Amino acid sequence: MAILKWLSSASASAFINVCCIILLCMNLIQNNVSIHERAIRQSVVVTQDKDDPPVVLSANGSLRGSVSSDNTMAAISMVIPRGKAVALPSIKITEEEEKNIERSFYGGKGDKPHLGGFTEFDPMGVSPSLWKYMITYLGIKSLLDVGCGRGISTSWFITHGLEFVQCAEGSHDAVMQSIVPNVKEHVVEHDFSRGPWWPDRTVDAAWAVEFTEHVGRNYQPNYITAFRKAALIFVTHSNWGGWHHVEVHNDDWWRVRWEAAGFVYSEYLTKSARDISRKDSGLNNLTLDMKPDQGYSVGQHIRLSIQVFINPMVASLPEHAHLFAEHGCFISRDDGNVDCSVLQKKGQALTPLPESFKPLILTDDMDKEWLDLIKHLNTSGRRIEEAAKSG
Ligand SMILES: *[C@@H]1O[C@H](CO)[C@@H](O)[C@H](O)[C@H]1NC(C)=O
Ligand SMILES: *[C@@H]1O[C@H](CO)[C@@H](O)[C@H](O)[C@H]1NC(C)=O
Ligand SMILES: *[C@@H]1O[C@H](CO)[C@@H](O)[C@H](O)[C@H]1NC(C)=O
Repeated sequence: MAILKWLSSASASAFINVCCIILLCMNLIQNNVSIHERAIRQSVVVTQDKDDPPVVLSANGSLRGSVSSDNTMAAISMVIPRGKAVALPSIKITEEEEKNIERSFYGGKGDKPHLGGFTEFDPMGVSPSLWKYMITYLGIKSLLDVGCGRGISTSWFITHGLEFVQCAEGSHDAVMQSIVPNVKEHVVEHDFSRGPWWPDRTVDAAWAVEFTEHVGRNYQPNYITAFRKAALIFVTHSNWGGWHHVEVHNDDWWRVRWEAAGFVYSEYLTKSARDISRKDSGLNNLTLDMKPDQGYSVGQHIRLSIQVFINPMVASLPEHAHLFAEHGCFISRDDGNVDCSVLQKKGQALTPLPESFKPLILTDDMDKEWLDLIKHLNTSGRRIEEAAKSG
């Protein structure tokens, strides 16, 4: 009787209403989570080939395939991916299939047609002046080269003494023709259309030049995991057509795309990178077949489209605190700052910076070592008249 009386009271109906609302909310949350998981599982598209080893799931975060939603969620959500990613190399095509692909001067023989698209030496993707700025002014000492082709840029960073350089490249043909010294140590063959990958450690910078236009947005989460391991991301896009260019957009599109992924656009670093790469546009002495009376638009893709993003999750870690390596002690507006250990008068030398905070010192011999690696490459496919035609 007491229960019946209580049930008909106002406080009981309020109580029941609250219970219903809580149940409804829990249901909504649960639905939302599963929709979110499904969406993510769809976006990390993994092509499982018949020859692939079986999908192995492990509690320690190593990832093979996308079947474990927990692992995949953890790997591609807004965190630094942990554990060891397993590289998924290019799935080769048959000679018969290769015959039906017209690659023209682009490399990628034997790879699925979404891969390749590299040339022997593409001067438009290199900028030694910008690379020097990245080392000596920004203080970069470790780098991931995403989509390095034959490894022209990767080789520059290796020959200039970085403590860690790794490239991820999808084309088996490119890896086979790589000019990178100790290729096994530095180059990982991974096709981002097959699944996510990331390096074992965090790096000061990711360099992804002439890469993003080649990979459809449905596979972007697979390489965002690699970007998430870098403190700074230097990334270009194409403004025109080319081999398997499936994402051609303007600066604004790419800026919102990477901001939507959680990276912070830097107007200052973007402008600096573009301005500095402009200095290299007239270079015509990089390879032996470059002619003094020709123009080669060196660094053109960089000065037209590079954007620089900050990934605060990595940039804020103590192991990356040496970045932005401008000297801290003031002499005069005109002379620029100096290393504080040279100034005595106002106590500056009393707290010298640890060596690990100082940028690497570059030498002419390093430049020579790199030039020796590239000097025999054929640049002739990309002279200025052809560049003007295609762009
Ligand atoms: C993680 O798990 C994988 C697969 O079970 C295993 O091969 C690997 O050695 C493990 N790595 C670590 C660091 O325990
Ligand atoms: C190449 O040309 C540039 C600009 O003309 C010059 O500064 C540089 O010293 C040259 N490099 C070599 C190795 O000759
Ligand atoms: C360089 O490439 C051009 C065009 O593909 C070709 O005609 C030429 O023979 C090549 N030169 C060398 C030295 O390989």
